[in-house]
Amino acid sequence: MDRRMTIGDTKLAARVPPGPRGNVVLGSISDIYRDRLRFVLDVASTYGDVAQYRVAHMRMYQVNSPEGVGRLLHDNHRNYSKDVATFGTLKLFLGNGLFTSDGEFWRRQRRLAQPAFHRRRVAAFGGLMTEATLAMLERWQLRMDQGRQLEVASEFMRLTMEVVTRALFSTSVEGDINKIGSAITTLLDDVTFRFTFPFYPPLKVPTPRNRRFLAARETLDGIVYRIIAERRQWPDEHDDLLAMLMEARDEETGEGMSDKQLRDEVVTLFLAGHETTANALTWASYLLSAHVAIERRLRAEVDEVLQGRIPTASDLPKLPYTRMVIDETLRLYPPAWITNRRAIEADTVCGYHIPAGATVSISPYVTHRDPTLWENPEGFDPERFSPERSVGRTHYAYFPFGGGPRQCIGKGFALMEATLVLALLTQHYELHLVPGRKVETEALATLRPRYGMWMTTHPR
Ligand code: HEM
Repeated sequence: MDRRMTIGDTKLAARVPPGPRGNVVLGSISDIYRDRLRFVLDVASTYGDVAQYRVAHMRMYQVNSPEGVGRLLHDNHRNYSKDVATFGTLKLFLGNGLFTSDGEFWRRQRRLAQPAFHRRRVAAFGGLMTEATLAMLERWQLRMDQGRQLEVASEFMRLTMEVVTRALFSTSVEGDINKIGSAITTLLDDVTFRFTFPFYPPLKVPTPRNRRFLAARETLDGIVYRIIAERRQWPDEHDDLLAMLMEARDEETGEGMSDKQLRDEVVTLFLAGHETTANALTWASYLLSAHVAIERRLRAEVDEVLQGRIPTASDLPKLPYTRMVIDETLRLYPPAWITNRRAIEADTVCGYHIPAGATVSISPYVTHRDPTLWENPEGFDPERFSPERSVGRTHYAYFPFGGGPRQCIGKGFALMEATLVLALLTQHYELHLVPGRKVETEALATLRPRYGMWMTTHPR
């Protein structure tokens, strides 16, 4: 079936995207539950640039080609909102922060928050990133003396949580850091559960799970609101993200953020700012342990540039291979592996009709493994991110941080953190995957290792 669309004087036929028929009642649900990643990859390789499938009564559109991704994220981004179920679930936890809000409200918040992520400001967090990493490596040293294997995914999670907490609050949270960590973990696990079981009873039904969620949110909110109140009462000299968010003023009205708005942005940054980076470090360790020559080359760069000293933000340009390892890890295992949007009005994407109100997904995991865009797409080859080999790369063939106006605000923060942590780690240890431990991707809200990542640490 063709729909006639009039653009200027030209009549264009916008085709209905092809896709799997699935089960009469359930659509593609069972294929999705069996293996989400396999499903989206198969849909892309079988049906091409734009496809559609059904999840029970809901129709989903999957946009795979860089051109289509660019249309959603950039060229026609105003037509695509975050008013979809996944972001609705996240709102239970994050409120109306940068990640979940839309339209004018989002634009204002982004303008207010942007200066806090200026490159110079972010560089100032380098010291706390390396400090926290060295503390982690010391903990490893102690455990290794006891001859234990390490589950590094949770180690990196703890590390990145500590980094983002200190970047947000500097020293104001010394006594609360563990309480914050466990509340965030409870909330995050719960949201992940609700993604998988979207028909779970809403929060007002007092199930044990719902009570646990509300208690964790109350603990977290209590700490965040207390700190905001203290800062309002004694606006002291602080050089952290919260201080920058509190100082920010709307250019037109001169207004700052309300307490509720600050709370939502702080909690958003807690969440968005730690799990993704932790996953990137986990997958980088995994890939390096399986590719000895690449690990050796990384080590050679780190040793030559740093000569045993602690890296700083100013070393980053001198560690290009370390950065290529991270870029390539984010290609193969993009932590934010999928995102959804709702089409506000009907649109034509790569010649296909997207109806008004449709839920549309894009997945860097899929586009990053497209054999028409990447040579040997399954191979771990950091060199493909060298300047020479990056020349002429198709726009939106690579988008681990999204793109357009809603591109990740923490991209610079994350890349700096990942590079500094990986450099320090490489300087001190070699990590080996524990033989016999299963490694499998689990694609929920982020791309995690389903059974954790068990490694033995070998000091250098
Ligand atoms: C490797 C690490 C990270 C990855 C892969 C990542 C990925 C992403 C992606 C793909 C988006 C866009 C989502 C969409 O369009 O639906 C996003 C948005 C966002 N990220 Fe990140 N992120 C990372 C680290 C961070 C860090 C460290 C922070 C903060 C300290 C952060 C804060 C945010 C926020 C606030 C947004 C929403 C921005 C907006 O819509 O204005 N992220 N991130």
